[in-house]
Amino acid sequence: MAGILDNKVAIVTAGGSGIGAATVRRFVREGAAVVIADLSGSRAEQVRAEVASTGGRAVALKMDVAEPQGVETTIKLALDSFGRLDVLFNNAGMAEVSLIHQTTLESWERVIAVTLTGTFLGLKYAIPIMRRQGAGAIINTASISGIHGDYGMGSYNAAKAGVINLTRTAALENAKHGIRVNCVCPGAINTRVAQILGKDRADEFRRVMGAAHPLARMGEPDEIANTVAFLASDQASFITGASFVVDGGMTAATGLPRLPGAE
Ligand SMILES: NC(=O)c1ccc[n+]([C@@H]2O[C@H](COP(=O)([O-])OP(=O)(O)OC[C@H]3O[C@@H](n4cnc5c(N)ncnc54)[C@H](O)[C@@H]3O)[C@@H](O)[C@H]2O)c1
Repeated sequence: MAGILDNKVAIVTAGGSGIGAATVRRFVREGAAVVIADLSGSRAEQVRAEVASTGGRAVALKMDVAEPQGVETTIKLALDSFGRLDVLFNNAGMAEVSLIHQTTLESWERVIAVTLTGTFLGLKYAIPIMRRQGAGAIINTASISGIHGDYGMGSYNAAKAGVINLTRTAALENAKHGIRVNCVCPGAINTRVAQILGKDRADEFRRVMGAAHPLARMGEPDEIANTVAFLASDQASFITGASFVVDGGMTAATGLPRLPGAE
């Protein structure tokens, strides 16, 4: 059966883990050839080996989205390996937890560099290629943390809000060139953040995070990959400049407690 991304060539940043790795697997199942780019070369290679063992076409490389040269090299690898670039999943991002007045300039700058500048660099280097082709789809990973504030996540909140609005401008500037640019805003997703805490703390983390969502659980990486694959495909041909909230209902609420009689 034909996949929704048959014959497309895609780049997935932070493709070695979590949402990125789930999206690599989904893209490959849908027929795409994928460049798996990650700060961890070994994680990227692991995902490559896994999809290659099922007959998928993929290459892996170690890179840092905050470094212009790393992003340029990634795009060149897509062109050298597969001859074109149809889809960029600009997914890498990072958070550090601290109150604004206690946040060091170094921490602020790293979060902005990876999460916001990294997204900008992906756009900057992919757009000229896609303009030459007259087509392309870019999906940026934002977050519900780019829509609302969180305690202790100021740099991440600012960076992800920037990703949402940069998405809109990129969509406007490139619509007439056949390039669609959208972003996804995940709620809390069950990825490495939960796993690296260790089993007991991870279970508690998942329980607390899950309870904050009306659907009463964290999301799974595949549930973001489903949305990203759709946005990357021609099924989303009239969608550009949009932010897709995939958050189990979290942002549907004002945050006010339930009124008496509405339990
Ligand atoms: N997990 C969540 O709850 C959640 C919620 C909303 C948004 N997001 C966003 O989704 C994206 C992916 O998060 P995840 O939870 O799947 O992450 P994860 O921790 O499972 O994996 C992140 C991957 O990114 C790579 N990476 C880190 N810095 C990088 C850099 N500078 N350049 C290239 N690769 C880098 C890491 O090596 C790792 O393999 C991020 O942008 C994150 O902010 C996550």
